[in-house]
Amino acid sequence: MNNIDHKISQINEIKQLDETVINKIAAGEVVERPASAVKELIENSIDAGSTDILIEVADGGKTLIRVTDDGHGMSEIDLPMALRRHATSKLKNNNLLDINSFGFRGEALPSLGAVGRLRIVSHKEGHGAYEIAVNGGDCSSTKPAARVPGTTIELRDLFYATPARLKFLRSNKSELKAITDAVKGLSISTPSVGFTLIDKIAEKSRILLQVRKESDDSIKAKKNRLERVLGKEFSKNAISIDVTRDDINLTGYVCLPTYARASNAMQYFYVNSRQVRDKQLIGALRAAYSDFMPRDRFPAAAIYINCKSEFVDVNVHPGKAEVRFRDSQSVRSLIITGIKKLIAIEGQRSSSTLSTAALGIMRNGTLDITRTVEEKFDNNLQNRNYNVVNRSPYKNIEPAFKETWKPSARDLGTENQPSKFKEEFQNFPLGAPLAQFNENYIISQNNDGIVIIDQHAAHERLVYEKLKKQIKDNKIEVQVLLVPEILEFSESEILILLEYKDKLSDYGLKINQFGINSIAVQEIPAILNFQNIGKLISDILDELADLENSESLEKEIDAVLSRIACHGSIRSGRRLKIEEMNSLLREMENTPNSGQCNHGRPTHVSLKLNDLERLFGRK
Ligand SMILES: Nc1ncnc2c1ncn2[C@@H]1O[C@H](COP(=O)(O)OP(=O)(O)OP(=O)(O)O)[C@@H](O)[C@H]1O
Ligand SMILES: [Mg+2]
Repeated sequence: MNNIDHKISQINEIKQLDETVINKIAAGEVVERPASAVKELIENSIDAGSTDILIEVADGGKTLIRVTDDGHGMSEIDLPMALRRHATSKLKNNNLLDINSFGFRGEALPSLGAVGRLRIVSHKEGHGAYEIAVNGGDCSSTKPAARVPGTTIELRDLFYATPARLKFLRSNKSELKAITDAVKGLSISTPSVGFTLIDKIAEKSRILLQVRKESDDSIKAKKNRLERVLGKEFSKNAISIDVTRDDINLTGYVCLPTYARASNAMQYFYVNSRQVRDKQLIGALRAAYSDFMPRDRFPAAAIYINCKSEFVDVNVHPGKAEVRFRDSQSVRSLIITGIKKLIAIEGQRSSSTLSTAALGIMRNGTLDITRTVEEKFDNNLQNRNYNVVNRSPYKNIEPAFKETWKPSARDLGTENQPSKFKEEFQNFPLGAPLAQFNENYIISQNNDGIVIIDQHAAHERLVYEKLKKQIKDNKIEVQVLLVPEILEFSESEILILLEYKDKLSDYGLKINQFGINSIAVQEIPAILNFQNIGKLISDILDELADLENSESLEKEIDAVLSRIACHGSIRSGRRLKIEEMNSLLREMENTPNSGQCNHGRPTHVSLKLNDLERLFGRK
C-alpha cells in the first residue's frame, strides 16, 4: 500500500464521486463474497412473491450465479430503475421503521452490477419480457427477450472489476459451502417457497439442496422444512417453543441438551423472517443452556422472533445481518426464561440419537463372540511368551471373566425384592430397577422396554437442582465441621478464595484465612457428606480462575454449584442396594432437567422392547 499523504486533502478540490465508484464502494459492504450475492438475489425473489426459486452456481459462485424465480417480475421501465442506486419499490412512505420486506435500501443490484457482469431477464404479467445488462458499472439499454413471467438474474465473473476483492475469495469448495449455508438459512425462514440449488460442473449438474414448497409459513411447515434441511436427527431431538411477552413472540425449535454440537453452526435466528447473526441472541441462547451444557458445546436451534416492525431496527448493517431491538433486555430474557422452562419440562427426555446409536453399535456386531474367543486365545499365547502380533482390534477390552465385569444383580438383597418393585413401579417413566451393572449403570424395566441409568450423572443433577433450590429459598443446610479442615494453597489462590469468601458462604461453604498460605474450612453444605474437601476447593478455584472474565454472577454461581454437586454425587463404582436405586429413579422423575447431568451428558437411555425384538430378528 502507498503511504497515506496527509496533505492530499489540501491539494485537491472537493469533487462528487461518480456513480460507478460509489457503487463499487457500496458493493464492498453489501457483497462480501459469492454467498452474499446469492443471498441478495434470493431475497429479491422472495420479496417478488415467488413460490419456486432455482439457484445455479459454478466454481463456488465465482464464475456464475443464476437465480430464476416465478415472482411478479419487472417491466421494461422497471429494469433500468432496478439498477439505479437507492431506487427501490419496497420502502413505504420513506419510513425506515415500517419495513416488511427483505430489501429496502435499493442498493443490491447496482452493487452487483458494479463488481461483476450482471444480466436481468424479466417478464411482468401483461408487459412482456425484457432484458438489460450491466458490466462493471456500464449499463446497456433494454431489449425484448423471451421467458415466462418471473425473473432470471445472472451474475458472471464476480469481482472481475475489483481484482483486489477477487484475491480474498476462498477455495471454490468453501465458497460453495457458504452459498449452501446461505440458501439453507433462507429456506428455513420461508417454507412456503421451494428451493433448488444446483452446482454446475462443466456440462454436468449436481443438486445440492432441493426442498419442495410447503403450504404456508406456519410453525408446522417450518418443522417440515427444518427436517428436510437440517436432517431427521435435528427434528427428532427438537422441542417446539412458543412464548409471547410484551408483544414479542418467540417460536421455533430448540434441541434437547444431549443433542449438543461442537460449534454454533446449527443455530438459526430469524427476526421478522430475516435471518440474523446477532451476538446478543447467540449469547442469550447460550445462557439459556448454561445449566445443561459444558462451555465448549453448543445447542442446535432455530428461533423465530416476531414483533412489530417498529420494535426493531434492521438498518444497522449493509448486509442486514444485525438488528437492534428497542428493548433488547426483554428479548434476551424471553429467550432465556422461555427455553429454560421448556427444558425443565422436557428435561426428563434425553437425546433419541443416543439409544439409536447404541442400537446401531449392537447391530454392527461389536459383540462378536468369535472375536472374543480369538482374543482370549491371543492372550494365552502372549502369556506363554510367544511372539504374536496382536491382530485384534479389541486389545483394550478386559477379559470377560474379570471381576469388574460381573453383573451385580446377584447382590440385590433378597430374592423377592426386584419383583416387588416391578409391580409397583413398572408403569413409571424410569421403571422398576432390576440390576446394577459395572457398578455405575442401573438397569430398569418400564412398560416400553429397558432403561439404563448412569447413577453418577443422575445423582449429580439431583444434587445440583437441590442445591440451587436451597440457595434460591435461602435455606442452604450446612454441616459444621467439628475439626476445621486446614488446606494449603498459593498466595494468589488464597486471594481468589478470599475474594469469593462471602459468595461461597452463601453456598454453605464457610472458609477463613489460616496463616499466610492456608485456609480453614469450617462449614460445608450438608448435602455433600463427602471426604475430599481439598479436591473440591481446588476444583472451585479452577472454576473461579476460568470465570475471571465471566459476564455474570449467575454464571459464577452455577459453575461453582455444579462443581459442588459433582463432588457430592454418588460416585460411579459404588454398589447400590435396590432400595437406593429405586429411590434414585423416583427422585429423578420428580426433579427438573433430570434427563441430563450438569455437563449435558444424558443420565439415561432407553431401549424399547420393539427395538430389542428387531435386534434379535423377532420382528
Ligand atoms: N427477482 C425480482 N423480481 C422482481 N423485482 C425485482 C427482483 N429483483 C429486484 N427487483 C426490483 O428491483 C429493485 C431493486 O432491487 P435491489 O435488490 O437493488 O434493492 P431492494 O431489494 O429494494 O433493496 P436492498 O438493497 O435492501 O436489497 C427492487 O426494489 C425490486 O423492485
Ligand atoms: Mg434487494
